[in-house]
Amino acid sequence: MTSKTIIGLSILSLAVTALAMNEPAIIPQPQSLTRLEGAFKLASGTRIYTDPASMNTGDFLAGRLRKSTGWRFRISGKTAPDLTITDGILLTTSGAEAGLGAEGYELVVGTNAVVIRAPAQAGLFYGVQTLLQLLPPEIFSTNVVKDFNWEIPCVQITDAPRFQWRGMMLDVSRHFYNKQEVEKLLDVMALHKINTFHWHLVDDNGWRIEIKKYPKLTSVGAWRGGVGFGLETNSTTAYGKDGRYGGFYTQDDIREVVAYAEKLHITIVPEIEMPGHSLAALASYPQFGTGDGPFIVPLKGGVNPGIYSPAKAGTFQFLDDVLTEVSQLFPCKYIHIGGDEVPKGPWKNDAACQALIKSEGLKNEEELQSWFIRRIEKIVNAKGRTLIGWSEILQGGLAQNATVMDWIGGGREAASQGHDVVMTPTANCYFDYYQGQDHSVEPRAIGGFLPLEKVYSFEPIPAKLAPEFQSHILGAQGNVWTEYIPNLKQVEYMAFPRLSALAEVTWSPKAARNFDDFTRRLKTDNQRLDQLGVNYRLYRPDTRTQIGGWIPAQIKTEPATLEWDVTKNVTAAGKGRVSLDYTQGACGIDIAWVALLEGDKEISRDTHDGFTGASPRQPVYTLDVPAPKPDVHYTLRARVAGSGGTDSAGGVYWDLQPVSNQP
Ligand code: ACM
Repeated sequence: MTSKTIIGLSILSLAVTALAMNEPAIIPQPQSLTRLEGAFKLASGTRIYTDPASMNTGDFLAGRLRKSTGWRFRISGKTAPDLTITDGILLTTSGAEAGLGAEGYELVVGTNAVVIRAPAQAGLFYGVQTLLQLLPPEIFSTNVVKDFNWEIPCVQITDAPRFQWRGMMLDVSRHFYNKQEVEKLLDVMALHKINTFHWHLVDDNGWRIEIKKYPKLTSVGAWRGGVGFGLETNSTTAYGKDGRYGGFYTQDDIREVVAYAEKLHITIVPEIEMPGHSLAALASYPQFGTGDGPFIVPLKGGVNPGIYSPAKAGTFQFLDDVLTEVSQLFPCKYIHIGGDEVPKGPWKNDAACQALIKSEGLKNEEELQSWFIRRIEKIVNAKGRTLIGWSEILQGGLAQNATVMDWIGGGREAASQGHDVVMTPTANCYFDYYQGQDHSVEPRAIGGFLPLEKVYSFEPIPAKLAPEFQSHILGAQGNVWTEYIPNLKQVEYMAFPRLSALAEVTWSPKAARNFDDFTRRLKTDNQRLDQLGVNYRLYRPDTRTQIGGWIPAQIKTEPATLEWDVTKNVTAAGKGRVSLDYTQGACGIDIAWVALLEGDKEISRDTHDGFTGASPRQPVYTLDVPAPKPDVHYTLRARVAGSGGTDSAGGVYWDLQPVSNQP
């Protein structure tokens, strides 16, 4: 018997009830969802039935339900052919549609019974996540909620992901988050069917994974003089006993987190950066660096000159040893070796590296980088793993079996050559960028601008990638680089709801994407996060209107005045917020002031140093706007100068908060 017939019976036995329940608010939106009449009422006596293979998933569901309902649900074994139920919740792989794949599932909620069928446990687990999202958000309470009506609207859902790689990267080098904090993030990822956690364990600012053979990597490399990045000392508690900033995961910690993730069907991909972004390693073992150093764990980011030397005896043995321990800790297919932003200066200026370029018949430092990565690929492959690296591993020729993580391009080229690719372009996936243009109400960020809409509108398949290569795009991931993110609360603020949007981009059918409906569902998702004690940014639609812009021809290196007509935008008395949003060019513009003119008379001015460019600073100006007078022209003026060049272009936006709307 199929699940449809079981539920068909329970629906027949139903008195017709109105569709009184709230609309389901599932993120990511399932492939197909049909709302049926009525609701299933979860009660203390509700049984959970599982086949023997699905016991763990049943335990997971029971554990989650118990936290908020307080009820101990009984789990009963069911074996084929006795795989039908007339009451309770059944989780089974039996009779599942094989075409749903490893992560797909079918979920039918009738008034008497709930059935989740999936070909594999990951799919069954995602069916459980959907079921939890069909319950009221209070189901995610961490305390027992008494006397609550735990109703699940009747639905029929068939679901499977669009992409196999649905990821988030967390940089734990710039700032450190302990294992409980990482596990809390994993829980919220799983809730949104994110299945890959890319753990950026190593960078200039800290080495965070215990390597038994090289203890100095953590006794030296995991610590720096302070929180750094110009941040407040009390913005974090990650200090050692001696007051230094930092921390690391012991191998036991790593094993615990990997096992925790496995239960959530999350794969952890570790990243060990090389040959650049390696100052923390070289501060510990300078003998593997290019040049004489000194190598110290720095208090700020950027592209640092501390890079490994491919010409020194022992460098590759050291990296091989490190990767041996890493591969023993992480069972996943991939090892990420970084490869991004390698400054070539140190190799250019180093006699041994130049000699190596000659003896290997290489043309330049780009080819030396490629030679380095190919050598590392052999080491990674010898451990039975696949190498993945950032866009730059394409420079000088891509290693034979490598997978590319595209952040600055190259994804289309790599896929066209038959390589697998994960898309994570800065324009859509950099969750360290600002979420709003008004920086006075946002925590300090690295720069950029990545609003929720822009994540949601992302299409992971690159334009112009020939259809026969599109299957090489494994999926996409959001990257949380943490230079300016000193604690978990702020990580959560930067990740949510942008990761929820990316979950929908990577899971749901492209045709099902609808931003208005997503923001409707997001309200419920926010309530779930409230219950879980997870921080997020409250989505606010952009109510600004574009009133004009600027192009390079208008920009000089000396200050110049630009003007825009805002007569039709001065519609009421209030506060006018003007933002200058850079869109292109190598250089941005410095802004001295923005003013409003009524006829020829200036009536309001906001003077502060602002900058709009790749990393904007305070580019929003607030003006007092009067009630409009008839037949009078209103003009906006801004005093600006090109910052280091005159090639920028951008838009100017106006947002008027009438007096009556102000708090
Ligand atoms: C990167 O953002 N440097 C990969």
